[in-house]
Amino acid sequence: MPKKKTALRVNGRQHELALDPNVSLLQALRDLGYTDVKNGCEIGECGACAVLLNGTAVNSCMVLAWQANGAEIVTNAGLGTLDKPHPIQEAFADVGAVQCGYCTPGMIISTKALLDRNPNPSEAEIREALSGNLCRCTGYGQIIEAVQLAASRLQAERLAVAAMPTASLTRECGDGGSHSPGGSGAVATPQASLTGERGHDGSRSPSGLSTGDRGSERGQR
Ligand code: FES
Ligand code: FES
Repeated sequence: MPKKKTALRVNGRQHELALDPNVSLLQALRDLGYTDVKNGCEIGECGACAVLLNGTAVNSCMVLAWQANGAEIVTNAGLGTLDKPHPIQEAFADVGAVQCGYCTPGMIISTKALLDRNPNPSEAEIREALSGNLCRCTGYGQIIEAVQLAASRLQAERLAVAAMPTASLTRECGDGGSHSPGGSGAVATPQASLTGERGHDGSRSPSGLSTGDRGSERGQR
């Protein structure tokens, strides 16, 4: 099978690859060393492998690597570091929303995508946005709390920046974007073939978090 030339820009770093056409984005990222992208189910059910693809949260196990050719990819590690965490990462740590941590990178990516498009979500909107991310440890209560805390901190940041004399001040963050008074850092997805895009509607799970038809929803878009 002829290999496909694939250019991936991950957390601001360019990678030029020649990959078998059936290699998933998840596999390509982990082979490149981005092991913060977790391999949970490989069938679009758990959300552990979520990354931002041109600003949209997708399950990377449901995207072929060549489909992401030329796209901007951000993983959880691209949002912040231990020394300089992103406010969302900080909020997850502060409220104890992390236990084993396996679901956390995907949860944080989904939260980033949510708060970029909706800076002040209701609890129902948070539950819906995280409906494709499964956690076996926390019971979701602290995760919801972490998202609410992150939203309020980011809102406070925006207000503080807006109150500064120079309106054009922005705070650069690790995902290559910026937090500005305008709020949204969401980027339009140019490729119709981004098959892993995650849906945001679904039904309630026993845990109280809506789950939806994750695999098919993400696989269709
Ligand atoms: S590994 Fe579970 S959705 Fe991708
Ligand atoms: S913290 Fe263990 S799966 Fe969520």
